[in-house]
Amino acid sequence: LERTLILVKPDAVQRRLTGEILSRLERKGLKIVGAKMLRITPELSRQHYAEHVEKPFYPDLEGFITSGPVVAVCAEGPGAIAVCRTLMGATNGREAAPGTIRGDYGQSRSMNLIHGSDGPDAAARELKLYFKDEELFAFDKLIEPVLYEAAEA
Ligand code: GTP
Ligand code: MG
Repeated sequence: LERTLILVKPDAVQRRLTGEILSRLERKGLKIVGAKMLRITPELSRQHYAEHVEKPFYPDLEGFITSGPVVAVCAEGPGAIAVCRTLMGATNGREAAPGTIRGDYGQSRSMNLIHGSDGPDAAARELKLYFKDEELFAFDKLIEPVLYEAAEA
């Protein structure tokens, strides 16, 4: 089964949307196999957003992502990375479709409530930044054969 890193960003924590956001992932059938609250440091921000560090908006992005606590979650399921990206919606809340997290709760491009890894390499790299191996859990849910169908991974 695929794993992805989700961050409930500082704006969502501030707006008391943590439960609502994580509950949408759970209702979809994703399994939370790791979770912690933390304050992202400037160093961690530079590692997490390595692809954006040189961009003009990076100082604003770092200021925002370090502005308050986030909730980091490892979500697991078949195609978890793409499933989460679909649930999140487009980066800019004004463009994100209704029914998506960003489409339903935000209008901002920078304060867009949630982060989700954008591919398998990013997911592996980002999960290592936030979780030790022993902080991620394997547990079976008896409904999985019904939820995911037989051979999906
Ligand atoms: P993440 O899941 O957070 O990575 O969002 P994304 O993959 O939808 O967007 P992207 O990786 O392109 O950008 C990363 C984050 O930087 C976005 O989620 C925004 O929070 C922020 N961001 C992107 N573009 C801009 C911008 O032009 N200005 C500002 N201030 N922030 C931006
Ligand atoms: Mg991204």
